[in-house]
Amino acid sequence: MSLDSEKTGLIPNSPIHCISTKEKVGLIAALFPTIPVMIGTIIRYPFSKNPSSALRKELIKYFARKMLCQITILQTQWVLPTSTEAYVTWIRSRTDVSSEPSTENFESEGFKIHWIGSQSARKIILHYPSGGYAMPLHKGHFDMLNSFRKKLEPKTDVKLAVLEYALTPYATYPTQFRQAVLALNHILSSGASPNDILLFGDSAGGLLLLQVIAHILHPYPTIPPLPQLSSPFLGLLFISPWVTFGSSSTPPTSKRNLDYLNHTILTIWGDAAKKGSALELTKPNHGQLCEPGGYWGEPMKAPSEWWNGVEKISTNILITSGDWEFLHNDIQEFGKSFKQAVAPRGVKINVLGEPNGVHMGPVFEKLWDFAPNTLTDVVIDWVYERII
Ligand SMILES: *[C@@H]1O[C@H](CO)[C@@H](O)[C@H](O)[C@H]1NC(C)=O
Repeated sequence: MSLDSEKTGLIPNSPIHCISTKEKVGLIAALFPTIPVMIGTIIRYPFSKNPSSALRKELIKYFARKMLCQITILQTQWVLPTSTEAYVTWIRSRTDVSSEPSTENFESEGFKIHWIGSQSARKIILHYPSGGYAMPLHKGHFDMLNSFRKKLEPKTDVKLAVLEYALTPYATYPTQFRQAVLALNHILSSGASPNDILLFGDSAGGLLLLQVIAHILHPYPTIPPLPQLSSPFLGLLFISPWVTFGSSSTPPTSKRNLDYLNHTILTIWGDAAKKGSALELTKPNHGQLCEPGGYWGEPMKAPSEWWNGVEKISTNILITSGDWEFLHNDIQEFGKSFKQAVAPRGVKINVLGEPNGVHMGPVFEKLWDFAPNTLTDVVIDWVYERII
């Protein structure tokens, strides 16, 4: 496979770096309300019913939740390194990754594909990353992917492709969906066979993966169709997929406050992603197969017939969620109905819940260097089995 790669320097995504002085001051001001939250967390910790969670984890969770509720998407983007910066920093800091930064920039479409690992590897993991379409790539994504690569290393080389989609508020639905399709299209048309490719999406990336699957089954009117698949993909991995823009159910009271996401944050991100799009404007058309605003964007609402044919896309699917996470019920409910739709057609599908797990537990652990929970090993082993 020949790649038209381009070595990247740091390419700042210019609009992200423009916020007003007032917004910068606002960011500092937003720190103050986190102080009582942190003190409260420390005081409550010894009495907590959840001793399995380290204090540092509890502090990160509640700090993140308070901050994300108070600041805007643009402020978040201003504070964090851009996706490309995070990628270059990560790859340069790893001694176990021999490759230099290698990025394909699809400038006219506003997305990039970042590569990790040997370009000569035949097997590929294509990652649609989390971030609510609002937040850039981070170390957690790359470390998660690299743990798949390292487990496989003794047996086979695998190269990792990470989609950098355009962020809200500059890009809204279905732009990221289109970029996800184009990225896959690019990899397929470069000569890779689906039976050498595993597709992985976490959170908002899981929603993209569901949209890509729906697009293969029911081409979305304004997005180029994918080529006929010559074989099924090796597997479809979903870690805490977003199954609707926002959240549709509320956890039981005992679990409502155990995650770093909640309804407020999911609504900020979901609304920004839908803003002005067909999904927002044509609500009554939900369900009409060829209308923008149909089930592509909101897979949770799709009837089981929508998924007819998934067995031709892949016969191996894993969906996970954490039982402390705000989206747990949504994911499990979706997983159950998706399983009912595809399992009778020969798809091996597992829907797992991680005890005491937060949103995207395995990726969150990698981001903050927590010891892996059991789910992380289950996911790594599942990927290994698919690819080997
Ligand atoms: C979400 O969490 C933040 C921070 O703890 C809180 O201020 C906000 O009220 C919560 N939102 C909802 C809907 O509970």
